[in-house]
Amino acid sequence: MISAHLGPYAQLPANKAEASKAFKHIEIDEAELRHCGHFEHGLRTRFEIAKADAWILLAIFWDNMQSPIHDHESSDCGFHVIAGEAEETRYKIVKDDLVKPIATRILKPGESAKSTGESIHSLGVPKGVAGQAITLHLYCPILGYDAMGIYREVDAADEIVVKSDKIQSRR
Ligand SMILES: [Fe+2]
Repeated sequence: MISAHLGPYAQLPANKAEASKAFKHIEIDEAELRHCGHFEHGLRTRFEIAKADAWILLAIFWDNMQSPIHDHESSDCGFHVIAGEAEETRYKIVKDDLVKPIATRILKPGESAKSTGESIHSLGVPKGVAGQAITLHLYCPILGYDAMGIYREVDAADEIVVKSDKIQSRR
């Protein structure tokens, strides 16, 4: 299945540019992919489709969950919605690991997006909606869950701390 879809890219230790080019043209059969991965309620499960020195191609099966707010360390990521709807929220740092949302969008099957290593986002099925989704992800270089920086959305109590710190720093 994989070599049929990735052609020479499945065999070569392709660099980032080659992998990114291949990702734009990749066509994955949804029914075939569903046989390879699985859903688990309240979790996201990963299925590794292909890997080279410079990249990894994963399918993520989302079942009624969103990822934590995270960055991608030094890895760039392209992702593509295969089935269901995915909601992505982008954040900016307020202070340390505290972030606030700056944009949210819904991606439908066939739609793609990319994020750089510095991007901070969360991804999953749309919040407040029971649902499942399958997304395809290309990470260059390879990214492990443990390597991601995790952030927390600022709340009202944190805002007070942040403001008081700014006041102190001006003195
Ligand atoms: Fe991500």
